[in-house]
Amino acid sequence: MSSFDVVIIGSGPGGYVSAIRCAQLGFKTAIIEKYSTLGGTCLNVGCIPSKALLASSHHYAEIKHFEDHGIELSGEVKVNLEKMIARKQAVVDQTSGGVKFLMDKNKITVLEGMGSFVDATHVAVAKADGTSETIEAKNVIIATGSKPSSLPFIKIDKERIITSTEALKLPEVPKHLIIIGGGVIGIELGQVYLRLGAQVSVVEYLDRIIPGMDSSLSKELTKVLKKQGMKFYVSHKVKSVERAGEAVTVQAENAKGETITLEGDYALVAVGRRPYTDGLNADKAGVKISERGQIEVNDHLQTSASNIYAIGDVVRGAMLAHKAEEEGTMVAEILAGQKPHIDYNLIPGVVYTWPEVAAVGQTEEQLKAAGTKYKVGSFPFKALGRARASGDLDGFVKILADEKTDEVLGVHMIGARTADLIAEAVVAMEYKASAEDISRMSHAHPTFAEAVKEAALAATDNRALHV
Ligand code: FAD
Ligand code: NAI
Repeated sequence: MSSFDVVIIGSGPGGYVSAIRCAQLGFKTAIIEKYSTLGGTCLNVGCIPSKALLASSHHYAEIKHFEDHGIELSGEVKVNLEKMIARKQAVVDQTSGGVKFLMDKNKITVLEGMGSFVDATHVAVAKADGTSETIEAKNVIIATGSKPSSLPFIKIDKERIITSTEALKLPEVPKHLIIIGGGVIGIELGQVYLRLGAQVSVVEYLDRIIPGMDSSLSKELTKVLKKQGMKFYVSHKVKSVERAGEAVTVQAENAKGETITLEGDYALVAVGRRPYTDGLNADKAGVKISERGQIEVNDHLQTSASNIYAIGDVVRGAMLAHKAEEEGTMVAEILAGQKPHIDYNLIPGVVYTWPEVAAVGQTEEQLKAAGTKYKVGSFPFKALGRARASGDLDGFVKILADEKTDEVLGVHMIGARTADLIAEAVVAMEYKASAEDISRMSHAHPTFAEAVKEAALAATDNRALHV
């Protein structure tokens, strides 16, 4: 029987990064993945393919503004969806192949098959050909991720009533795409198909889209997307989703008990994801699963079985690739006797629409609820030279700082390239910077990053220069 220091179940960003760090630290490491491609949800049906389609559809949307820039196109500009999706798949295949390369380079044993616990130190790997192999593990890291969740009355048929997985490979541009759930998936994929010519309606249960983020970001994103033609039904609870042939009917009820009926040809169910532990036989290893389906872990990501750890989407916290990666690294370092630490408050969140939305730290709503006294510095993109030069005028950067100490408590931004700009805020907050610290640092001109400096100036005695 093969024996390993660490066996990792699941090859998503949590699992494969953890495997690399384990190997770097000298552990004999194996990774088990039930699919034939490595990289998990993120690389195969999540982050990477969605960003590929967002990039392709963004290029198409930009063409409409070419004339403003003095670029005249002769002839018709058309979308070839099949080719766009084939390109997306090529990007996915290349990225997944890159993970295989990294496994080989780090001498990590890759086992293809479904992993399930025999007991706390043995994992069986059931292979596609019907055979099974049991391996021995001193330590196990569960990184089995998540799957789309749904509502009890919805029958997902994967053709017309779909999840994000199918939405990444549709055979045609929908005429009317009805999206159930105005969270990150709904809004990102909604913008893809809106740009490609679909009518897009979003039905959201709460009173605003991207409800986990600062409400000012929801408001600005709603404004921009409405301008682009997306329709919103917020404070609407979906009651039924039915398919008849190529038609899909969605009924939802508002707070007053009034029902609306939407007729479309596709319905995307994007109401969140559930932790995935099917077939893992966690109980055989003494690993406890919570009522919400998450693997229970302590602050060291250790489960109820002392040699078994769990990371990423399958445990509590944000379902984000970079959160899973940090946890994967942390567990490897704990196993090596180190004392790593993750500040979960400083895990940034990004929505890759255009304009991009990005945030780190506390929202205004959270600060108010905690009774923290804070000040606000805000700066609009339209006052920025670089934004005017490129024509990306929507959005703002908002910095929330402690009223007395000036320490930055939260940074919320929407606008061009904020997905990258947020890194500056993370660094600043990791080093406990004050708003004045950021305001006194030189930011190259003309860049979008100047909006961060200006917002910091605004938070520091209202000293913004360019408004
Ligand atoms: P996963 O990536 O889900 O990987 C788990 C792996 O374990 C899977 O490959 C699965 O097959 C395997 N597995 C499960 N059980 C077993 C078993 N018993 N035996 C063997 N293998 C098993 N996050 C971001 O940060 N940025 C984004 O832009 C972003 N975009 C997204 C877009 C979409 C459409 C979706 C759906 C998600 C997106 N996410 C994004 C979320 C991100 O994909 C997840 O947070 C991330 O993949 C979680 O990583 P993980 O390693 O915990 O699990
Ligand atoms: P989500 O939690 O972001 O959004 C789900 C939305 O559905 C919420 O706004 C919720 O209020 C709404 N909803 C729930 N029940 C409803 C009902 N009955 N009727 C109408 N609306 C209802 O989940 P989503 O978008 O499915 O994404 C899943 C996970 O994937 C997220 O946790 C996210 O972190 C991750 N992800 C991250 C991305 C990124 O980082 N850019 C991109 C895509 C996904």
